[in-house]
Amino acid sequence: MDTYSFEDFVGDRDTFLAEHFNKKPLLRKGALAGRLDGLPSVRQLDDVLALETTPPSYLRVTKGGKGVPSGAYTRTVARGAALAEAVNPEKVYELFRSGGTVTWNSLHHVLPSARRLLAPFTDTFACEGEVVLFVTPARNDGFSPHHDSIDVYVVQVDGTKTWRVWATPEVRRGDEASYTAEELGEPVIEVTLQPGDVLYVPHGTPHAAAARSELSLHLSVGIEPRRWRDLLRDTVDSVVRDPEFHAFPYLPGEGPQGDEAVADLSRHIELLRDRLASLEPVSEAKRLAQTGRERAGAGRPREFSRLHAADALTTDSLVRRSSAPVEIGESDGGKTGIRVNGHRIAVPDAVARTLRDLDGGRQVTTSEFFPGVDAARSLSAARGLARLGVLECAEHAVFPVRPSTADHHDQGK
Ligand SMILES: [Fe+2]
Repeated sequence: MDTYSFEDFVGDRDTFLAEHFNKKPLLRKGALAGRLDGLPSVRQLDDVLALETTPPSYLRVTKGGKGVPSGAYTRTVARGAALAEAVNPEKVYELFRSGGTVTWNSLHHVLPSARRLLAPFTDTFACEGEVVLFVTPARNDGFSPHHDSIDVYVVQVDGTKTWRVWATPEVRRGDEASYTAEELGEPVIEVTLQPGDVLYVPHGTPHAAAARSELSLHLSVGIEPRRWRDLLRDTVDSVVRDPEFHAFPYLPGEGPQGDEAVADLSRHIELLRDRLASLEPVSEAKRLAQTGRERAGAGRPREFSRLHAADALTTDSLVRRSSAPVEIGESDGGKTGIRVNGHRIAVPDAVARTLRDLDGGRQVTTSEFFPGVDAARSLSAARGLARLGVLECAEHAVFPVRPSTADHHDQGK
């Protein structure tokens, strides 16, 4: 299964950030040609629709440029004692056959392939994003000229779609808006996207799209990076978690108690100012990036896969230290204490020595991991430490153990 990097979509990262990001559209013909297997497909869309439990808010059907009321493709289902509206797949297919465009919002909520597509973007921009899927029947007008309030990365997956993109205006409006082709003039990009083509449309940039002779499926990754106000609010939030800011003040605003409250407020503002001034910008930037990625789910662990890989280690497997920080203590009576991911355990000194040796990225077979014992016991020790996240298999992709959220919050203090 293909996984994707940010560069797969936009090419060289520095060039993209300097010349296109937030400035002008980018067309990359064939960027993912032959590498579409890992992306959401028509078949996966059928599978998700067949689940029959989709809340109507995920789906939108448009016909002749107008939204179809959700009542036209939903039904009422019993969920326990309650009744709920759910999408009716047959009605969706019927609307599609008669010329409707089906839009599936937040596809990454339900489809792993959509999460994989989103991850390089949320990882790069450390913010949340959304994968929206558009499936359009042949010879459909699609969407008339408009602009969106977020950055959009379009990936054509099936069929073809003709796009017109106009120049990104100097001054951009924050809201969404429609245009007529006459008021826009000549587009800067006019292209028929083929499967594997990628198109970047910065926010506020007018664009229009229409399917041609066959069904078209394209994915649109929408990203709205956090603004300064979002980042600074997060920074202040992290600072005021300190117990110094826990008290309940009384703020009557007048009289002797009022004067005292105002003086108290002034002290707290000063304290906040001092705390902000003492923040180390490099580590605070790292913390903000990390919290952004966590909120976007880009760093969500794959614990079952990791534990499965640990249990599948054999005496021939090569292991190495994972990226999880490990504190190795002093020897005491033949055992050495180690601390990792909030666990404290004692390991034989020989095992602790191997762990120190592996610090520079070196690898060792599981049977050599615990010198002085037989291969089966050495394997057992390696498996135990792999389950705890100290070791990982060096031969095939194993998902890293990320330090806990609490550890990240401590970094900026
Ligand atoms: Fe759009």
